[in-house]
Amino acid sequence: MPEHAIFVPALYTHNATIDAQHKELIKRVNDLYDAIEKGGDAAGEKAKESLEFLTQYTVFHFQAEENLMKTTGYPLFTEHKKIHDNFVITVRGLVDKLAELGPTPEFADLVEKEFTAWIINHIQGTDIKTIEWINNKSGDQMQNLL
Ligand SMILES: [Fe+2]
Repeated sequence: MPEHAIFVPALYTHNATIDAQHKELIKRVNDLYDAIEKGGDAAGEKAKESLEFLTQYTVFHFQAEENLMKTTGYPLFTEHKKIHDNFVITVRGLVDKLAELGPTPEFADLVEKEFTAWIINHIQGTDIKTIEWINNKSGDQMQNLL
C-alpha cells in the first residue's frame, strides 16, 4: 500500500482557488487509498465511487486552470492543455484497471505511480511556473492601470 500523499508547502502555486483544488485532489486520492486499505465487502464499490469522483474532479480542476490560462492570455495554454488531456486518458485507464485488478494493494500502488506521483510532479513544475507567469502578468496589468 502507498503512503498517504501530503500537501507540502512546496506545492503552493499562490493562487488560492487552484491551491484549494490541489489540496482536494490529494485528500481524495488518500480517501481512495483508505477505501482499499479498509477492505471488506464494500471495498470494491467504495473504491469505484472514490475513483469516479477523483476522475470527475480532475477534469473539473483542469478546466478551472485552463479557464484561468485563457482569460489571462497565458502563452503556453495549448501545451499545458495537451498535458492535461493526456493525463485524463491515464486517469480513465485507471478506471479500467480497477475493474481488472479489484480494490487491491497492487491497484493502490498503480494509483500512486500513475496518479499521485504525476499530479505532485505536475504541480511542482508546470502549474507553479504557469501561475507564477499569471500572477506576475496580473501585476504588470495593475501597474498599467495606474
Ligand atoms: Fe496543470
